[in-house]
Amino acid sequence: RPLPPLTHHTLHKYENIWLALAVVMTLLLFVGVLASMITGTFPKIADRGGVSTEASTHSMGISSTGRVDPTNLNNTPFATPGLVKNADGSLDAWIVAGNFVFQPNVLRVPAGVPVTLHVTSSDVVHGFQVTGTNLNTEILPGHVATMKVTFRHPGEQHIICNEYCGRGHQDMITRFIVET
Ligand code: CUA
Repeated sequence: RPLPPLTHHTLHKYENIWLALAVVMTLLLFVGVLASMITGTFPKIADRGGVSTEASTHSMGISSTGRVDPTNLNNTPFATPGLVKNADGSLDAWIVAGNFVFQPNVLRVPAGVPVTLHVTSSDVVHGFQVTGTNLNTEILPGHVATMKVTFRHPGEQHIICNEYCGRGHQDMITRFIVET
C-alpha cells in the first residue's frame, strides 16, 4: 500500500481558525466604535475647542484619554506623520498605521535622544514592534498608543506589524535610522 501523502492539514485548520477569529474581532471592534459614535460616547473632537488644561500632554484632536477619530486624522498631528523636535531636544514621532503601510516610511533619529512615539491606526488593528527594543504593542483605530524609546547605538531598526491585518500585512515595515 502506498503511504498517504504528507499534509499540513491540521496546521492550516488552526491558521484558518485564528484568521477567522482575527476577522471577527476586527468586525466587533468596528461595530463597537460605530455604536459608540452613534450613541455619542465617542469623543466629539470638534466640540473640544478652546484651551485645554492638558494641552501640554495632549495634542489637538486627541482626547485626554488618547482617543482620536480614525476616519479624520486631518486635524491632529497625525495629518503630517513624522518627527517633531521639542525645545529640550527630545523628539516626538507621529506614526500612522494603515492601508498596509506605516507613515512616515523612514525616521531619522540621533542616538541617545529620547523619542516619544505616538501611534494610531487609520483602519484596522495592527501590530507595532520595534526591533532591537522591547517595544511591542497593538495599534487600535481610535486610540493613540504612546511609548518612549531612546536608541543608544547608531544603526538601523525596523518597525514591523506583527499582527495579521490583511493581504498586505507582510509589507508593513518602516525604519528607524539611528544616527551618530
Ligand atoms: Cu498591519 Cu499586519
